Amino acid sequence: MQTTLAPIPAHVPQALVRDVDIFAIQAIDPDLHIALKQLQDESPSLIYSPRNGGHWIPMRAHVIERVLSDQEAFISGGAWVPPNPPGSLPLIPIQSDGQLHRAYRSFIMPYVLGKPLKDAIDRARALAIELVEGLRDKGACDFTRDFAQHLPIEVFLSLVDLPSEDRLFLSELAEVVRMPDPATRMEAYGRMYAYIAEKVDERIANPGSDMISRIANGEVLGRPMTRDEIVGECAQVLFGGLDTVASMMGFIAAHMAANTPLRRRLCAEPQLISQRIDEIIRRFGVAGPARQAAADVEFDGIQVKAGDPIFIATALHGLDERRWTDPLVIDLDRSATGPDFQTFGSGPHRCPGAALARNEMILFLEEWLKRIPDFALVPDKPMISGSGSVMGVLSLPLQWEV
Ligand code: HEM
Repeated sequence: MQTTLAPIPAHVPQALVRDVDIFAIQAIDPDLHIALKQLQDESPSLIYSPRNGGHWIPMRAHVIERVLSDQEAFISGGAWVPPNPPGSLPLIPIQSDGQLHRAYRSFIMPYVLGKPLKDAIDRARALAIELVEGLRDKGACDFTRDFAQHLPIEVFLSLVDLPSEDRLFLSELAEVVRMPDPATRMEAYGRMYAYIAEKVDERIANPGSDMISRIANGEVLGRPMTRDEIVGECAQVLFGGLDTVASMMGFIAAHMAANTPLRRRLCAEPQLISQRIDEIIRRFGVAGPARQAAADVEFDGIQVKAGDPIFIATALHGLDERRWTDPLVIDLDRSATGPDFQTFGSGPHRCPGAALARNEMILFLEEWLKRIPDFALVPDKPMISGSGSVMGVLSLPLQWEV
């Protein structure tokens, strides 16, 4: 369902206006990224959409890089598309800036590196093996429901030192969160939030050495974190890694199902999976963060005014042929996919979970292809994907011979 049209501000040239609802982009056969690429091909480097409250969308890699890298000109505090309802709490740390943002972020970073990273990945790999072993003889599955959504939940549980048994409860809710009905969705979000709040209260009373305890004992700007901040930050670590990881895995799985030569090559040369994972990730950007112009600024002669919201479809960076030759092709022999791909963003908000997510993609491909090397899309049950702040794979039926 499309949202209403906001008035076009006077400083926005009519030639840059496109009626694009970032929550309602229609996949093309069944690839949502091809639909985005088509939009990019038809658009100037920066467009203005009157949907979702009205906002800019950088369409080309160089504009995305400029917005993400200039934290003075483009701020995160309060920025979201569509705008946050009045009175709602900012998402932590993603909707904060400067010193406050650095403090929030410092509580997460020790848990996404070194031993906690390794422990989380070991747990995710063990679970991936268990899940694929369980699916192998069935000959079919819904990849999102039966495989992809479980891994990021297991990773989160590892970071916060909670038992694997909680995974089934959270994954049932994750399934509801993907449903189209907003009321059902909000109810499931509320229950996930309540789960996190309960764990926060347990750790405030009885701290350990896990991430929740670290956040709960954190100090920002010379004062202790409030309970709302603690719960909000823990929730964002869960939500930040849930749909993003599960959906990217889904887009990759769908692509592998339809591209036999690529799949066979990865099966024959499995070392390429970890060596070339960035090239695979580049092709499937999923996140759509937002910024707000802090002051009037000019882009290639275009006026962006202070307060203007900007939606950054990171996927468009990886699809720009001015940056990547044949961007729709996963080219395992591409000379370098380089650290400048923007699937995980860049600048001070660059995804703290990037190493976790990279490793989750590697272990998924390694463990799946080893056990189910040949699989296909199901002709009468197409993949269901959706665009938005995270481009999601809601359902991906796959089949294979047993
Ligand atoms: C494929 C998976 C993932 C993708 C594509 C992704 C993408 C992104 C992007 C583009 C940003 C930058 C947002 C901005 O500039 O405003 C971001 C931030 C963030 N991500 Fe991820 N992410 C992924 C997985 C994860 C995981 C596994 C975690 C769990 C630790 C996580 C937690 C976060 C958090 C907490 C932030 C906010 C960081 C800040 O504001 O400083 N993400 N992510």
